[in-house]
Amino acid sequence: MATQGSSPSGPSLTLSSEHEMIRQTARDFAQKEIAPIAAEFDESGEFPHETVDKMGAMGFMGIEIPETYGGAGLDTLAYVLALEEICKVDAAHGTIMSVNNSLFGYALLRFGTEEQKHKYLEPVASGKAIGAYSLTEPMSGSDAGTMRSRAVRKGDDYVLNGRKSWVTSGPVARFIIAFIMTDPEKKHRGITAFLVDTQLTGFSVGKKEPKLGIRASATTEIVFEDFCCPASTRLGQEGEGFKIAMAVLDAGRIGIASQALGIAEACYDASLQYAREREAFGQKIGEFQGIGFKLADMKTRIEASRLLIIQAALAKQASKASGARFTLEASMAKLFASETSMFCAHAAVQIHAGMGYSKELPIERYFRDAKITEIYEGTSEIQRLVIARSELGLKG
Ligand code: CAA
Repeated sequence: MATQGSSPSGPSLTLSSEHEMIRQTARDFAQKEIAPIAAEFDESGEFPHETVDKMGAMGFMGIEIPETYGGAGLDTLAYVLALEEICKVDAAHGTIMSVNNSLFGYALLRFGTEEQKHKYLEPVASGKAIGAYSLTEPMSGSDAGTMRSRAVRKGDDYVLNGRKSWVTSGPVARFIIAFIMTDPEKKHRGITAFLVDTQLTGFSVGKKEPKLGIRASATTEIVFEDFCCPASTRLGQEGEGFKIAMAVLDAGRIGIASQALGIAEACYDASLQYAREREAFGQKIGEFQGIGFKLADMKTRIEASRLLIIQAALAKQASKASGARFTLEASMAKLFASETSMFCAHAAVQIHAGMGYSKELPIERYFRDAKITEIYEGTSEIQRLVIARSELGLKG
C-alpha cells in the first residue's frame, strides 16, 4: 500500500493497484452474488451454503493463508479490504468469512504444527470445509477464564465434556478450535486448545441461538459428551489455551472492525442518496442542517475507523516478521469501528424515518447487524479495558 498520493485537496492515502484490484473483485462479487439473496437469507435464517462455497472458490475464505496451506497468500490489508466490501452488502456473509480467516485460519497458521496445518488448515483455507472457534460458554463470556467444560487426559487421548455457546458456524463447521479446561486449579493457565473434528462421536450441535441480526450466519451451542481426541489434536501445549485464545482474538477483532466499517458505509451511502432525493417542506432533506450534520458525523467517523483499521492491519502484517503483539491497535480499531457502525445505523434509520423502519429497504437489517459488532469477539467494555490496561502498563 502507498501511504501518499496527490489529489486536488492534498496528500491522501492511496491503495496499490493490487489492493485496489482486490477491493474491486470483492465489491463485484458481493454485488453480483450476495446482494440478490441477502434479504431472503436474513429473513429465513438459513445458512447460505452456495455463496459461501463461491467465496471459497474466490479465495476469500483464506486470504492471508499461504498458498501451501490452501490460502490465497495475500496480506492483512487485502483481507480487511475484501471483508469490508462483503460486509457492505451483507454482514452475515462477513461473519462467516471473518471467523474462517481470523479465528480459525490465523490460529492454525500461528500455533499449528506442520501436520495440523495440512490436515486442518488446508481444507478450511481453500474453502472446502468451514472452520470455527469456540471459547464462550453459557456461564462464561467476557470472563473467558472461568469455563466449566473439562478435558481429562487418558493415555494418549483427552476426553472432553461440556457445553459451549455462541459458536459462529457451529452447525456447519467441519473443524472447531475448542478451548477447554484441563486443570481448573490453574484457572486461565489450565485451559487447553483442541482441534475438534465435528464428524466424530461425542460431538453434537446444541440449541440454535435465536439472533437479532447476522441471521444467515449459523450460531449454536456445541456439546461434548465423552468426546475422545488424540493428543495430536491439541493446539499448542497444555495450559496455553487462554493465551492462544487471546492472541487469536486480536486478529479476529480486526476482522470485526472491518465488518463494522462495511455496515457503516452501507448506512452512509444509502443515507446520502436518500438525503439528495427525498423532499420535505419544499426542499431536499439533505439541505436541512439536522440531516447534513448527521451525514457529516457519519462520514468523519467512517474515515477515522478506516484509518484505525489500516493501522491495525499494518501492525498485524508487521507482527508476522517481528512477533510483536498488535492487541492495542486491534482493540482500538474494533471499539471505534463498531461504535461507528451502530452510530451510522441509528442515523440511517432516522434519516430514512418510516422507510428506515420498513423491511422494504435494507436499512433495518443494517441496524440489526451493526449491534453485534459492539458485542462479539469482546464487547466495547472489554475493548476499553484492554486499551486502558495497555496504556497504563497493567496486566494483559
Ligand atoms: N495476547 C497474548 N496473551 C495475552 C493477551 C493477548 N492479547 N491478552 C492477555 N494475555 C495473557 C496475559 O499476558 C496473561 O498471561 P500470564 O498468565 O502469563 O500472566 C494471561 O493472558 C491472562 O491475561 P489477563 O490477566 O489480562 O486476563 P483476564 O482474565 O484479566 O482477562 C480479558 C482479560 C481482556 C478480559 C479477556 O478475558 C477478554 O478478552 N475477554 C473477552 C473474551 C471475548 O472476546 N470473547 C468473545 C469470544 S468469540 C465470539 O465472540 C464468538 C464467535 O464465534 C465470533
